[in-house]
Amino acid sequence: MTCTVLVGGFFGDEGKGKIASYLAIKDDMDANVRTGSVNAGHTVVWGDITYKLRMIPSGFVNPKTKLYLAAGCNVNPSIFLEEVKLTKVEGRIWIDRQASVIEPIHIERDRSEGGRIGTTGQGVGPAQEDRVKRIAKLVSEIDYLKPYLDDVALRVNEILDRGGKVLLEGTQGTYLSLIHGTYPYVTSRDTTASAICSEVGIGPKRVDDVIVVFKSYVTRVGKGPLKGELSEEEVRRRGWMEIATVTGRIRRAAPFDFELARRAAILNSATQIAITKLDSLYPEAAYARKFEDLPTEARMFIEHVENEVKVPVTLIGIGPKVEDIIDRRREIL
Ligand code: IMP
Ligand code: MG
Repeated sequence: MTCTVLVGGFFGDEGKGKIASYLAIKDDMDANVRTGSVNAGHTVVWGDITYKLRMIPSGFVNPKTKLYLAAGCNVNPSIFLEEVKLTKVEGRIWIDRQASVIEPIHIERDRSEGGRIGTTGQGVGPAQEDRVKRIAKLVSEIDYLKPYLDDVALRVNEILDRGGKVLLEGTQGTYLSLIHGTYPYVTSRDTTASAICSEVGIGPKRVDDVIVVFKSYVTRVGKGPLKGELSEEEVRRRGWMEIATVTGRIRRAAPFDFELARRAAILNSATQIAITKLDSLYPEAAYARKFEDLPTEARMFIEHVENEVKVPVTLIGIGPKVEDIIDRRREIL
């Protein structure tokens, strides 16, 4: 059995969708469980299509992978059904009966109250508030979701018991965690590796690998501190300008933060690091197929990360597509 947890190391948008979809294919995952909610947009560039997924696990690209939404999820039923159609995963996706529902009133409340934090306005915070108050609706109360419901917690543990491979996909990043992030400028759940497991119902002894994903620079949307933040002009000049998947806002950006990375590795007990968008720092990196092919400065950057964070960098993103990855796992693990 292998249970791998994928977690964001900065403020979200590190490229978890791309890494999750690559692992689903490359490791032929038996199951991919998504946690969190629709405030997170995971981008998967597969074939000619760019998918921006807010509910469906990114590993949908492997038709043999069973897909699950965790008990900790807040489900927006219409977005869920739309994405099931878009990704054609009908028949291999299930939602835990204990997941809760985002209702129109939550979205209204988020849009009127969320400005102070700069939330995504998707209703996730208010849906979590109602869950804590124990007045939230669960997915089991919605008739048309019945065909999708299951005991996902048990199912995933059974798959591991049978020796299967499971990928738990986190959302946002370590520093947007309600508990460990830059409070109050955080999301409404703990986003660290342990919380990803608890949202699913996986105990701490079952986890084999924790892959923390960092982008080669740091971005943040919404309010809150960002050390070394660059002017919009400088962000454009460096080619780091990004538009947020869910809200269409411009992402703030800063250079790679080694201090945050070191702390993220500790909080999540990282066993591996994935670095995405190395080609944004070193354009020639896009043409490399092996670590040795990378430009010298790019290799030095990766080695610097390993020395500072004390965790091996096993996966390196060098382009937008699922398969644009240098995979060093066989060489260095
Ligand atoms: P909320 O999660 O919509 O309540 O927003 C709280 C904060 O987290 C805001 O700064 C959002 O921009 C940020 N946030 C929430 N989800 C994501 C995400 O998936 N990527 C990046 N930032 C996010
Ligand atoms: Mg995102």
